[in-house]
Amino acid sequence: MKKIAIFASGTGSNTRKILEYSTANPGSFTVALIVTNKPIAGVLDIAAEYGVPTCIIEKEEFFRGHHYLPELKDAEIDLIVLAGFLWKIPQALIDHYRNRIINIHPALLPKFGGKGMYGDHVHNVVLEEGEKESGITIHFVDEHYDHGDVIFQARCEVMPGETAESLAQKIHQLEHEWFPKIIEKVVKEEKLH
Ligand code: GRF
Repeated sequence: MKKIAIFASGTGSNTRKILEYSTANPGSFTVALIVTNKPIAGVLDIAAEYGVPTCIIEKEEFFRGHHYLPELKDAEIDLIVLAGFLWKIPQALIDHYRNRIINIHPALLPKFGGKGMYGDHVHNVVLEEGEKESGITIHFVDEHYDHGDVIFQARCEVMPGETAESLAQKIHQLEHEWFPKIIEKVVKEEKLH
């Protein structure tokens, strides 16, 4: 059974879906730690509901030397899952968990990624550019924002009259459907053993 840490700082709807999935499909992975930089984040309530230990990180500490590696090592984390975590991952963490950190992005990379491209900013640009489709990208994390190897993409149509809000809703549906299944697939891959 592989142990994953979820890094999340938003409402945590993906975190909830991942926990629901691992509870309903035990065997391949378990959520051993939830990491957040926001002491009021919704994910903390979800963590409490599921009895998952949490780690609240502090910015300077995160970016300077310490990197919270000991907490991750103590929890024997095999895979780090970014689900709405906006800070850049420090080099030491990337080096230690090379090919063992994945992120979900609410658009079809390589377009519409990079610093500042999150939440409705992404959907607004997709609409402004007149894209006919959008979707989700699940990818490995490397030194650059939204850049590592793509693991999986799913698409949805952008309809006439689409708003950032309606597009966000479609994207969240795709995320909830696919993210837990792709995490399961990744933990089953040879490279994590
Ligand atoms: C998701 O849309 C994801 O693509 C992005 O952050 C959002 C997190 O949403 N990286 P939630 O907090 O899981 O609802």
